[in-house]
Amino acid sequence: MATTKPPPNITFFFLLLVLHFNLGKSQLQLNYYTNSCSKAEEIIKQQVFQLYNKHGNTAISWVRNLFHDCMVKSCDASLLLVTGGGVVSEQTAERSFGMRNFKYVNIIKDAVEQECPLTVSCADIVALSARDGIAMLGGPNIEMKTGRRDSKESYATMVEEFIPNHNDSIFSVLSSFQAIGVDIEATVALLGAHSVGRVHCKNLVHRLYPTVDETLNPSHAAYLKRRCPTPHPDPKSVQYVRSDLKTPMIIDNNYYKNILQHKGLLTVDEELATDPRTVPYVEKMADDNEYFRQQFSRAVVLLSENNPLTGDEGEIRKDCGYLNGK
Ligand code: HEM
Ligand SMILES: *[C@@H]1O[C@H](CO)[C@@H](O)[C@H](O)[C@H]1NC(C)=O
Repeated sequence: MATTKPPPNITFFFLLLVLHFNLGKSQLQLNYYTNSCSKAEEIIKQQVFQLYNKHGNTAISWVRNLFHDCMVKSCDASLLLVTGGGVVSEQTAERSFGMRNFKYVNIIKDAVEQECPLTVSCADIVALSARDGIAMLGGPNIEMKTGRRDSKESYATMVEEFIPNHNDSIFSVLSSFQAIGVDIEATVALLGAHSVGRVHCKNLVHRLYPTVDETLNPSHAAYLKRRCPTPHPDPKSVQYVRSDLKTPMIIDNNYYKNILQHKGLLTVDEELATDPRTVPYVEKMADDNEYFRQQFSRAVVLLSENNPLTGDEGEIRKDCGYLNGK
């Protein structure tokens, strides 16, 4: 007698198995720490605020950290691992040039650890500190999900694959963002982060020497040459230009006004203002700060939710610079 139906106990076992895997697959959620560490978000915000008051640039760094962490595989704090014990830090990659203030991340983490040990991930600190940094810099208030977990490895060798170079074209930048589910309008909005912070001469002299890039606004080019007087800046001297001279510490739509006047510092800033796929959004953002703020919020959330580790994946690091037990 051939059996066509599996015995009921096997069916039942299979059902349990499917159920188990579905339950094991967690997702990010709003207020993930409500029960496990109800003050987590408040503590992080307070630390970001205090650090901003001491070193305003920290807020800028938290924004760039979100980009460099989330873009490379996942928002998993892989960026924060330092070199040692078999780990090569992503911070040492050439694309991380100019990143600063990493030493202050653990001040935030330590404050959270004191309240709830081994509960809040460094990945969520990367995300929430960026969110709070944006608010400190006059940007929008963004609602963000949490529940990310920390990677157990650094992806230093993959940084170049995911983080665009200073001289990459808009074509390659759009496709890098598209690959992680960030649409063109959101990509245009994210680049509004370049309305704060600085660019070192090293990253823009190729547009000044031996001849000035003819797409650059001539009076701005003259200013840039005064700030960066030699084609080969001494890597030890900190020569840089602020991205937005008018409101250098405010995340606003002034970036779009600048790039429409061809005062963008990076190749991608300039090309954003001329590519037919991006120009309509650039013009609208330059015109309407409220629209920029809405799109920027949406885009930051998209970026912050790239491929997170959740549930029992990864770990909750104690020290953001080191894997647990190392
Ligand atoms: C998409 C292509 C992008 C490229 C090619 C790019 C490249 C760069 C470069 C070369 C610098 C200057 C580094 C230096 O010389 O010190 C910089 C600075 C910065 N970038 Fe981007 N970036 C991109 C997108 C983004 C995004 C999406 C964000 C955040 C949402 C971001 C946030 C920042 C911030 C805040 C700074 C200033 C950092 C500081 O002053 O410490 N960038 N970027
Ligand atoms: C971009 O700059 C790098 C050095 O940072 C250089 O090696 C590369 O050839 C440049 N690429 C383009 C497309 O100009």
